[in-house]
Amino acid sequence: MCVLAYLMGSISSAILVCRVFRLPDPRFAGSNNPGATNVLRLGGKLPALLVLIGDVLKGTIPVWGAYFLAIEPLWLGMVAVAACLGHIYPVFFHFNGGKAVATAFGSLLPIGLSLAGLLVATWILILWLTRYSSLAAIITVSLAPLYTYLIKPLYTLPVTFLTLLIIFRHRANIKRLWQGKEPKITNKLKR
Ligand code: G3P
Repeated sequence: MCVLAYLMGSISSAILVCRVFRLPDPRFAGSNNPGATNVLRLGGKLPALLVLIGDVLKGTIPVWGAYFLAIEPLWLGMVAVAACLGHIYPVFFHFNGGKAVATAFGSLLPIGLSLAGLLVATWILILWLTRYSSLAAIITVSLAPLYTYLIKPLYTLPVTFLTLLIIFRHRANIKRLWQGKEPKITNKLKR
């Protein structure tokens, strides 16, 4: 299941959607991140929505499959981690992937809807308050281990690992936020 999850995670929705819509390759345009936020900047709402759905599903599908195979919580968490590692280091795209926020969220959906709901509510609130997609993601994933500990304690370890991985992938965003150079979600970046 981990291998399958990694392979599914390696399918980059952002790169494929940008090819279909004849948009610039998101790895080399905007924030250089193959994710929904960058595709929103590069191509608008429809391509971004498709990327978001694709990235969420590639986290949800393998974990959902593993869930129905009655795999133990720790290993179920490892399937989620494998899907996110596929998104971050995709074997099909020279290991140059994204930040795995949507994929991590998708992988948590089969684990608990209340947990997923709390994460979405946090992300929307921070985004609404700040207009920084990256800051919303960083704060949400930072709270994810606490939420998990309170709602689904058996998954705290893999979720903490995902948090560390996602924050590590946001190091350029953290630097830009610190320097006041991070674009808000509504701003387009120079290509
Ligand atoms: O989910 C990715 C987001 O947190 C940051 O994306 O394109 O602004 O680096 P981006």
